[in-house]
Amino acid sequence: MTTNWKLKESNQIYFPIDTVLVGDSWTVARSLPASHVQCIVTSPPYFWHREYSDDDELAEQEFGREEEPSTYVHKLVFLFEELRRILKDDGTLWLNLGDTYRKEQLLGIPWRVALGLQDAGWILRSEIIWHKPNAMPSSVKNRPTTAHEHIFLFSKTKDYLYNTDAIREPHVTFSETSKMRGGRNHFGKRNGTPENGKNGGNHNLHDGRWDQAFHPLGRNKRTVWDIPLGKFRDAHFAVFPENLVKTCILAGTNEGDLVLDPFMGSGTTACVAKKLGRHFLGMELIPKYAEMAFSRAVNIHFQPCL
Ligand SMILES: C[S@@+](CC[C@H](N)C(=O)[O-])C[C@H]1O[C@@H](n2cnc3c(N)ncnc32)[C@H](O)[C@@H]1O
Repeated sequence: MTTNWKLKESNQIYFPIDTVLVGDSWTVARSLPASHVQCIVTSPPYFWHREYSDDDELAEQEFGREEEPSTYVHKLVFLFEELRRILKDDGTLWLNLGDTYRKEQLLGIPWRVALGLQDAGWILRSEIIWHKPNAMPSSVKNRPTTAHEHIFLFSKTKDYLYNTDAIREPHVTFSETSKMRGGRNHFGKRNGTPENGKNGGNHNLHDGRWDQAFHPLGRNKRTVWDIPLGKFRDAHFAVFPENLVKTCILAGTNEGDLVLDPFMGSGTTACVAKKLGRHFLGMELIPKYAEMAFSRAVNIHFQPCL
């Protein structure tokens, strides 16, 4: 069942775009042809965090309600195998996961999933820490309050689309006041460039330092992202901040590409994809969320991401 069908023709094979497909994401993915999605950006329900449906039949298909962490990991790996099939060869997966405490113990769920996916053939390219400066306060007193989640960047093959320049961040390391050796002073001195100075011919240093210190668009994106929780939090739990999704989409796609979120929720991925001139495809188990996501996405007219 779908909220809308708009089909893109490609080699006589039809693939749905700009819509939200209602149902269990593995079942929906199974019905789709291979190699059409450029980038997957998603946040599955975390293990034992919340219950999205009070309908027994849907609850059984819902991720995050398994008895054991191993079942949760196994189901996710199984699903992502199917999603890898519909991903293009140069496509990427940006997977956001949070952890769970059970019996006073951290379960390490994000890494269990990451290693499961790696074993299944995904190439793990980066572990990104999403630091939430406005994380919910907690009452714990015998450990630090958790203020981060994981984002894993996976690729399907070694040759994948990654737009480095689209997500550069401001230079900070080599500021005028920086005392770091080899910083701006190194470049400012006569014969002090990597071509001519003591490091002449060292391309690693040249490329690395040039990129770090002087690239006009900023330095290469780092693996810690400081992003406050988003504002659209009333109608659905666990909503992505738009700026988080924006970073993944800018790095993983070009304009006109197709972005998939197999756990669409309130539709943040769809909205951001649309704002950035990309196509979206969502999958969502619960019909009322699918409707919400779809109507939120179709009503987007180019506003800045929050
Ligand atoms: C963490 S929320 C996603 C939130 C989303 N990133 C946003 O910004 O709104 C996870 C979503 O996955 C959905 N879900 C759970 N199990 C599912 C399944 N088997 N197939 C498809 N969607 C599922 C839930 O209903 C929920 O809306």
